[in-house]
Amino acid sequence: MPASSTRDIPTPSDIPRHVAIIMDGNGRWAKKRLMPRVAGHVKGVDRVRDVIKHCVELGVGHLSLFAFSSENWRRPQEEVSKLMELFVMALEREVGKLHKNGIRLRIIGDLSRFDSRLQTLIRQGETLTRDNTRLCLNIAANYGGRWDILQAANAWIGQHPGQALTEADLASHLALADTPEPDLFIRTGGEQRISNFLLWQLAYTELYFTDTLWPDFNAKALDRAIVSYQKRERRFGRTSEQLVQS
Ligand code: FPP
Repeated sequence: MPASSTRDIPTPSDIPRHVAIIMDGNGRWAKKRLMPRVAGHVKGVDRVRDVIKHCVELGVGHLSLFAFSSENWRRPQEEVSKLMELFVMALEREVGKLHKNGIRLRIIGDLSRFDSRLQTLIRQGETLTRDNTRLCLNIAANYGGRWDILQAANAWIGQHPGQALTEADLASHLALADTPEPDLFIRTGGEQRISNFLLWQLAYTELYFTDTLWPDFNAKALDRAIVSYQKRERRFGRTSEQLVQS
């Protein structure tokens, strides 16, 4: 199991091993162009493709994208339906290409609320790509960080009734239990919040916020985020002096 940043200090690396992104600003991008919100989401899918490609080029091992939060069901029904259609279309069109490029696809979240067609496509995509190692692509869909922590706790308690739960026990039942915690978190669209994404795993992640709207976020913008990450001093609770000595 990968080390927890509160229990062990990860080996420093110039290229983040795991990048987590909240892709925000699709609606505003469309509104600025007098287009329906869904046009922003459609453009957003193109940027997802670009960012995956660039992560492969850079050697980022894990990429987690927040596509649909457990709170996004509160959006107008029409927008929710269009987003679901977009997910189905993206899976139908892209899974083969992901597989050809050695990318493993995993969807994290409570999938039980999705219709059976979407659930089948998800299962097929995950099965087809499960042995790929070039990049692990995690798409969070109907995901919430609190949901993840609760389902992990309940899964563990179900298997070990009456025993005290430890940090390691809980971490081993989270949706990304086999994945190093994100080194870099990016949120586009100008808001500075975590919005219930990977709450447990972001404990020591470097946070990067940009005003760029997701449909405008390209390879250069990702490079800028990584340069900012490379300038950070990651102390994991230690002092600067200790870092210099080590
Ligand atoms: C946030 O922008 C974006 C979403 C809730 C959906 C993100 C979905 C995609 C980028 C497309 C599908 C992705 C995959 C992986 C197939 P917003 O609508 O909150 O924008 P706003 O803040 O400007 O209103």
